[in-house]
Amino acid sequence: CGTAPMSTVKEEKIVGGVNATAGSWPWQASIHLKVSGSSFHICGGTLINDQWVLTAAHCILDKTPSPWIIYLGRETQSGPNVNEVNRSVSQVIVHPNWNNTLFNNDIALMKLSSPVNFTNYIRPICLARNTSQIYNATYCYSTGWGKLSNTTNLPDFTPLQQVRIPVIGPNQCACAYSSLINLTNNMICAGEANKGACQGDSGGPLQCQQSGMWIQAGITSFGVPCATPEYPEVYARVSEFQQWITDTVAGTNVTFVLFNSNGTETDSNFTCRSTAPLVPSRFVGFG
Ligand SMILES: *[C@@H]1O[C@H](CO)[C@@H](O)[C@H](O)[C@H]1NC(C)=O
Ligand SMILES: *[C@@H]1O[C@H](CO)[C@@H](O)[C@H](O)[C@H]1NC(C)=O
Ligand SMILES: *[C@@H]1O[C@H](CO)[C@@H](O)[C@H](O)[C@H]1NC(C)=O
Ligand SMILES: *[C@@H]1O[C@H](CO)[C@@H](O)[C@H](O)[C@H]1NC(C)=O
Ligand SMILES: *[C@@H]1O[C@H](CO)[C@@H](O)[C@H](O)[C@H]1NC(C)=O
Ligand SMILES: *[C@@H]1O[C@H](CO)[C@@H](O)[C@H](O)[C@H]1NC(C)=O
Ligand SMILES: *[C@@H]1O[C@H](CO)[C@@H](O)[C@H](O)[C@H]1NC(C)=O
Ligand SMILES: *[C@@H]1O[C@H](CO)[C@@H](O)[C@H](O)[C@H]1NC(C)=O
Ligand SMILES: *[C@@H]1O[C@H](CO)[C@@H](O)[C@H](O)[C@H]1NC(C)=O
Ligand SMILES: *[C@@H]1O[C@H](CO)[C@@H](O)[C@H](O)[C@H]1NC(C)=O
Ligand SMILES: *[C@@H]1O[C@H](CO)[C@@H](O)[C@H](O)[C@H]1NC(C)=O
Repeated sequence: CGTAPMSTVKEEKIVGGVNATAGSWPWQASIHLKVSGSSFHICGGTLINDQWVLTAAHCILDKTPSPWIIYLGRETQSGPNVNEVNRSVSQVIVHPNWNNTLFNNDIALMKLSSPVNFTNYIRPICLARNTSQIYNATYCYSTGWGKLSNTTNLPDFTPLQQVRIPVIGPNQCACAYSSLINLTNNMICAGEANKGACQGDSGGPLQCQQSGMWIQAGITSFGVPCATPEYPEVYARVSEFQQWITDTVAGTNVTFVLFNSNGTETDSNFTCRSTAPLVPSRFVGFG
């Protein structure tokens, strides 16, 4: 898991991102919903083995499998997508404790109607193991076909976008959001001014590299649209769901890898002074 042979990403809709080259993020899924004959990109997702896709609970606008179609190996929404395969869905499983007002446990799994063969453009990501420590200012990537800004859609012919953003520790992030929502341990934040996830990116990954492997730390969930200074985006914290994921995909293999930050967690010393520079009226799900 977690290897991308075609990746051009060096060590080093999405706001403030760049075009991803084909195969850079081979686990990235585009989840479509069929509505009266047409199908629309609703959310991102990630391939975690040959038959399961991880996404956000708030993306599941319909809990029945039949209206869903999942694209893997996709570059643009308009095509052509020479490396693409698609699958219908045989099961949709939303986390039993998903709370759509608190945005807690924003995680869901979709089972593909039949397994996919892995290629250089289609392969699974590793998931962050439950004791992973991902400190403030760890740089990771967020990917998606979501909006380029609060007001601009990604043109259909534009490839998947990627953006490199820092994780923001739980104290600092909870402080920013405190007037809007109480964050929980099941969330992890990342983003900086003018860089981050936006509507249409939900369900997609926050992925961090360690020892040559890409490890999914988060599932895009919500934020103050979009990439607003002082408001990092909020992701479901994958490492908190190891047991649920393992139980749900029982009989198939998912790989959990320990992500361990070096150094110290500067966020533990963060003190919240209630001086939010701009108090937005709401946060929104990025579905
Ligand atoms: C799914 O893939 C098959 C085989 O490539 C193709 O014939 C079909 O049109 C695709 N379906 C959708 C809905 O994209
Ligand atoms: C979400 O949590 C709140 C507070 O605990 C509770 O009142 C509400 O019923 C929950 N909603 C769902 C859908 O579980
Ligand atoms: C997957 O690969 C196997 C072995 O090469 C082949 O027999 C099978 O048809 C492939 N399945 C799909 C869905 O492409
Ligand atoms: C967390 O990391 C961000 C991004 O590098 C930085 O701006 C911020 O000062 C850090 N916060 C703490 C509490 O160290
Ligand atoms: C984002 O757009 C919505 C609707 O277009 C608007 O109501 C909202 O104020 C905008 N938010 C920001 C932070 O610009
Ligand atoms: C990204 O892709 C789009 C569509 O092909 C293209 O118009 C744009 O110039 C590309 N951006 C960069 C920075 O290469
Ligand atoms: C956060 O939780 C506290 C304590 O339960 C509550 O008083 C407060 O209203 C909550 N804040 C928000 C924004 O929901
Ligand atoms: C982590 O997950 C493993 C395997 O599911 C479990 O045995 C262990 O108790 C979990 N540890 C924590 C701290 O949750
Ligand atoms: C899961 O992985 C184990 C160890 O690599 C292997 O023995 C087993 O066959 C795999 N199971 C499936 C369903 O792929
Ligand atoms: C921590 O340091 C080790 C050894 O230098 C390195 O292999 C590892 O990638 C580092 N971890 C992170 C998250 O940077
Ligand atoms: C927290 O602050 C104390 C006092 O300034 C300092 O000694 C300690 O090293 C700091 N810890 C971290 C993790 O930055």
